[in-house]
Amino acid sequence: MKFELPTKASQEILEIDAREVEAVLQGPALKLPPWPGATVALKDGRTLYIREAKLEEVPQMLAYVKRLLDVDHDFYDIVGARVYSEILGWYRKRLKDPYTLVGLIDGLWAGFANGRLMNEDINISLHTMALVRGGRIGAAMYYAKAYYGFEIIGNKEWWATYESYNGWLRWGLGMAQPSYPWPDVQHELGGAKVYYITKKYWDQSVKKYIRDMVGVDLDFNVPDAVRKANETLVVPEEILV
Ligand SMILES: CC(C)(COP(=O)(O)OP(=O)(O)OC[C@H]1O[C@@H](n2cnc3c(N)ncnc32)[C@H](O)[C@@H]1OP(=O)(O)O)[C@@H](O)C(=O)NCCC(=O)NCCS
Repeated sequence: MKFELPTKASQEILEIDAREVEAVLQGPALKLPPWPGATVALKDGRTLYIREAKLEEVPQMLAYVKRLLDVDHDFYDIVGARVYSEILGWYRKRLKDPYTLVGLIDGLWAGFANGRLMNEDINISLHTMALVRGGRIGAAMYYAKAYYGFEIIGNKEWWATYESYNGWLRWGLGMAQPSYPWPDVQHELGGAKVYYITKKYWDQSVKKYIRDMVGVDLDFNVPDAVRKANETLVVPEEILV
């Protein structure tokens, strides 16, 4: 748009540093405490180590997630497409206050969970994926990010929604999550229903969900050997879902 100037200007063309534009587009970030890393002992004896993804791991994560767009069962394609944009949004700083957790078994990428902060109180759960099936890895990943929100960040409310039957079964039904009136309140993922957990409800009963589902709790006492074995993320050669 161009309007006529209402006064004389000594410089009619202003030069702008793109870094100044970037500051406007990004806005200030909330200071999120780090996820300390935790293990979950899977039923088959393997150890799932859940840590924060590293920014330098993004290119290989994106290359792998791109391949999920061709998986035409259990909603991996739509979830893959959205996860791709969320990881890229984190990388290119176009997602407000995101957090990205990966679940690794001896370095192999087996699980994913992410979300972002709407504000200090409300945590928006974005996506969870099991990249290896049958081990309830997705269940553990979702629990870890909710634990991060309520116990570590200090959020008061958790907003989720579900694209898939497995997701809804695991958490919508599994955690008996109530939903806000719809369509009055809509989740940013496609305008679907917002299922929510309050801190009170989390404390009352949801916290014990991982015990019921996976059979163990998150273990934050992570041996150095486990951290070391999972320092480098390795993407599976094949699609395993
Ligand atoms: C939702 C999701 C994260 C759940 O992961 P999970 O807890 O690790 O559970 P799985 O998907 O491996 O297994 C779910 C059920 O499928 C069946 N199943 C078991 N092994 C399976 C296999 N190899 N392949 C397919 N299904 C299997 C079982 O019934 C299992 O339930 P059970 O463990 O209670 O017996 C996962 O299904 C997923 O990533 N789906 C695609 C993305 C998605 O929908 N994300 C959530 C968005 S709402």
